[in-house]
Amino acid sequence: MLVTTHLFTPGPTHMPEAVRRAIDVPLQDHRAPDFHKLVLPLQEDLKKIFRTESGEILLFAGSGTSGWDASLANCLSPGDKVLTASYGHFSDLWIAMCKQHKLEVEVIEGAWGEAAPIAEYAKRLAADTNHEIKAVLVCHNETATGVTSDVAALRAAMDKVNHSALLMVDGVSSIGALEFRMDDWGVDLAVCGSQKGFMMPTGLCILGVSQKALKASEVAENPRGFFDFKGLLNQYKGGYFPYTPATTLLHGLAQSCLMILEEGLDNVHARQFRLAEGVRRAVQAWGLELCSRRPEVHSDTVTAILVPEGFDSNDVLKTAYNDYNLSLAAGLSKVAGKVFRIGHMGAVDELMLLGALATTEMVLNDVGINVTLGSGVVAAQKYYRESKQAEPQKAVA
Ligand SMILES: Cc1ncc(COP(=O)(O)O)c(C=O)c1O
Repeated sequence: MLVTTHLFTPGPTHMPEAVRRAIDVPLQDHRAPDFHKLVLPLQEDLKKIFRTESGEILLFAGSGTSGWDASLANCLSPGDKVLTASYGHFSDLWIAMCKQHKLEVEVIEGAWGEAAPIAEYAKRLAADTNHEIKAVLVCHNETATGVTSDVAALRAAMDKVNHSALLMVDGVSSIGALEFRMDDWGVDLAVCGSQKGFMMPTGLCILGVSQKALKASEVAENPRGFFDFKGLLNQYKGGYFPYTPATTLLHGLAQSCLMILEEGLDNVHARQFRLAEGVRRAVQAWGLELCSRRPEVHSDTVTAILVPEGFDSNDVLKTAYNDYNLSLAAGLSKVAGKVFRIGHMGAVDELMLLGALATTEMVLNDVGINVTLGSGVVAAQKYYRESKQAEPQKAVA
């Protein structure tokens, strides 16, 4: 009997029961006189989670990818120069999209497993005395390698040379789970989707947009079609949409925001760190290596694990899925076959992760990677016990 497929991918993530129930509501008229009562408080809650008071949080039907599209289409014109770095699958995909938008893309070659090379960004920004670079792009949490980058340091590098470019940040696998400070970090475009830190089904693109980015969108000349900020904002400021919104998902998102804010952002970040650290201790006990090269850059939402030379990580994934109903995530592009990933973002707790780690140990042995059964579980158990807070947080429902 298939109980359920145990989902440990870094998006979609576990959907809490309370979110599932919030979505399970009758459909409604999105032009009804009281519809704004759902949308306006949701906008305010999202601002708290993005930590912005001055920016707007826009919602489109879509996913993270459409957030990249919307940012580029609204705020830049063909031929504009952007500065970005390549250090993982998702930073590369955004670069490819910049090219589709006919932007001139200056790419810093980074290393997979390393964070965004801030010193190199700083050098290029300092050299750009005429401010030809119109936007600086960075992927905050590279989900493919399990690496988090320092957005505050990038902002500091921009400020140091008084650079006028927009700062566009992919926060798809960070916002709602990892520390993210849109206003403090001077982020002009913050891109997110609903199926990761927000513990929701895919289907919403959630965008933080600064006033500076909104001004840029008034002069940019790219066709933006569905994703037109201005077209949305006309009605959205009053709590309505110019098209038919995904009403049931909005209910779910309101519930997930409530849960995140009730737990408290700092508590969420601390919980994410603690859960991730248990996974990292397990990997160490197995004698395996992380794809992320330094503790300072390890992601607290996803752990990418290298399989030893001569093994194919796809065998780990297949065995996990076929024999144990466990969904782990694949290695992508450059690290395909070399890496498997454990997602631990959103509605997860120690019990769930210990189950995933125990099962992963069986899988690894099944495919011939001989780790001592129980070694990772014990390492994680020890860490979870040692680091248990005096007053445990309310469990995620
Ligand atoms: C960092 C990052 N950016 C962008 C995306 C693309 O988002 P989506 O799959 O929601 O379109 C993903 C998806 O995993 C991601 O992890």
